[in-house]
Amino acid sequence: MITYLVTGCAGFIGTTFVHFMLSRYTDIKIVNLDALTYAGNLENLKDIEDDERHIFVHGNICDKELVAGLMARYDPDFIINFAAESHVDRSISGPEIFVTTNVMGTVNLLQQAKNAWYDAGQKTWKPGKKYVQVSTDEVYGALGPEGFFTETTPLDPHSPYSASKASADHFVKAFHDTYGMPVNITRCSNNYGMYQFPEKLIPLMINNTKNHKPLPVYGDGMQIRDWLFVEDHCRAIDLVTSAGRPGEVYNIGGHNERTNIFIVKTIIQQMSEKLHDPEINESLIRHVEDRLGHDRRYGIDPSKIRADLGWYPETAFEDGIVKTIDWYLANETWMERVTSGEYQQYYERMYKNR
Ligand code: NAD
Ligand code: DAU
Repeated sequence: MITYLVTGCAGFIGTTFVHFMLSRYTDIKIVNLDALTYAGNLENLKDIEDDERHIFVHGNICDKELVAGLMARYDPDFIINFAAESHVDRSISGPEIFVTTNVMGTVNLLQQAKNAWYDAGQKTWKPGKKYVQVSTDEVYGALGPEGFFTETTPLDPHSPYSASKASADHFVKAFHDTYGMPVNITRCSNNYGMYQFPEKLIPLMINNTKNHKPLPVYGDGMQIRDWLFVEDHCRAIDLVTSAGRPGEVYNIGGHNERTNIFIVKTIIQQMSEKLHDPEINESLIRHVEDRLGHDRRYGIDPSKIRADLGWYPETAFEDGIVKTIDWYLANETWMERVTSGEYQQYYERMYKNR
């Protein structure tokens, strides 16, 4: 029996990770710690609420007593930290919570893990334990038209979000370098798929096209992101957790670089065809004021994880985007629930004067 303490699993990627792990393994226990912020949604986990292998704990990764208690009670083999404030636009309008959750929360998890796993007298760690930090390609900054991010690319974050994630990565490395803590850091490119909150590009555009609302494209729309289907990311995290060499960083990405405008036009075309709706067309596109400090291009070199762990992406973008759109069309009630209430105020705040 392997026990995982996994944080942030009521959010987009964490939800997929829990489903992925429970469908793949029988003899595991997942303790899922999530604060249920605006981005966390327990409804995502409704189908597994009676599954004894999954234990949901409502709480904050910054809470020292709570995390210490979970370490004592469940004695996890692995900690995987997905919990974060994850949206760049929100970090630009309010950076403080990004420091609290992404930096202080990570340090608390590291510290509680060290308290539980480290014998300071002997300078030894309990065997078989590891901490995995789910980080992002954004810590590397932005690329010009050529080249890719490798694990040795210097960190050069630009947004408050990426600065907080880079800071957390430094702490994870510091716990490894100082105390010898067994850790891995993963740095993945943009994920897409089911359960993503519609403040992010792809679900926002799906929701707006469906409702014939303007499609807000920041600046010229020629920024490039490297898109990966979320299940491929989850498979990579599982591999890194079980087989990654302690102390190593692994980049995760599938060489699937697309401009934002290409993504938006693809969604328009797919949605118009699927809904047989001629009103869904490119006249919905609105070029709006650019994001401050907007990174122009991200592109991951995934050679290391392929060579060391045999990982490669299984879902082509052309298939993944269709699966994703189909999921949102089949789960209209989910979309309606998450876009009611606070979402309306968020949308107004972000897009009104743009
Ligand atoms: P998300 O915003 O959808 O979900 C974040 C989850 O963390 C939510 O369930 C939220 O309730 C929870 N959370 C937030 N603050 C918390 C706290 N203080 N204590 C406990 N739980 C808290 O995020 P996501 O897109 O699923 O991203 C998950 C992780 O993956 C993040 O660390 C992010 O930086 C990283 N990442 C995301 C992407 C992407 O494209 N979405 C790509 C690479 C890396
Ligand atoms: O690269 C990994 C990162 O990808 C993760 O670390 C982040 O958690 C995740 O949110 C994502 O960050 P991005 O900023 O790239 O994702 P977002 O969906 O917010 O935006 C994708 C691109 O689309 C970006 O260039 C901004 C642009 N955009 C976004 C929105 C929401 C628009 O043009 N219009 C929009 O309305």
